[in-house]
Amino acid sequence: MTTIIAPSILSANFAKLGDEIKDAERAGADWIHVDVMDGHFVPNLTFGPPVIAAVRSATKLPFDVHLMIERPELSLSDYISAGADRITIHAEACVHLHRTVHFIKEKGLPVGVAINPATPVSVLEPILQDLDLVLIMTVNPGFGGQSFIPYSLVKLRQLRAALDERGLDAVHVQVDGGVNRETAPLIREAGANVLVAGNAVFAENDRAAAIAALR
Ligand code: DX5
Ligand code: ZN
Repeated sequence: MTTIIAPSILSANFAKLGDEIKDAERAGADWIHVDVMDGHFVPNLTFGPPVIAAVRSATKLPFDVHLMIERPELSLSDYISAGADRITIHAEACVHLHRTVHFIKEKGLPVGVAINPATPVSVLEPILQDLDLVLIMTVNPGFGGQSFIPYSLVKLRQLRAALDERGLDAVHVQVDGGVNRETAPLIREAGANVLVAGNAVFAENDRAAAIAALR
């Protein structure tokens, strides 16, 4: 699988979010990673459906919406209506993860499940065959600019082995947090094919060079 680069707008200039999204597209982004935070599941509050709807027309690139929120099942339809192209929920935020995964699938969207640094990959084994994407968090979610947690590479290899064992070659393996030109080669080698990058892209002036350096 070719490497997909998904800049996270959490690190973009919120005062001109639409322009930042256009700039990321111009610079070669494949997806736009939209970090939704509710201030409960994670200690930060970002944006929700109204902001996503406001910037939807800025690009045709897929909005890869990462819901770092409690009880995502209560608001999934709002994110879908706002323009999400794919939705990732956290295993730790769902009491009925199988039901919520299938709700998203029945709406026709690709569905991902994210696990935090201390959550084992084995949690996902009962639903791996239902997923389009697995997100291995490589920082504790909530903020951009944190350091990559090295043990994530062990989890990545465990996930890749579990997918290979089941012949699930089409499932995207996504990494999020502390991805930069130093960690990207290690991450790709460990089996990820979708790299989310916030600061490594939006903190740079030359975003095209920043994205190219991650591939
Ligand atoms: C973590 C978010 C990440 C974050 C990545 O809380 O889910 O997407 O924005 O930012 P960087 O790439 O700067 O670590
Ligand atoms: Zn994210």
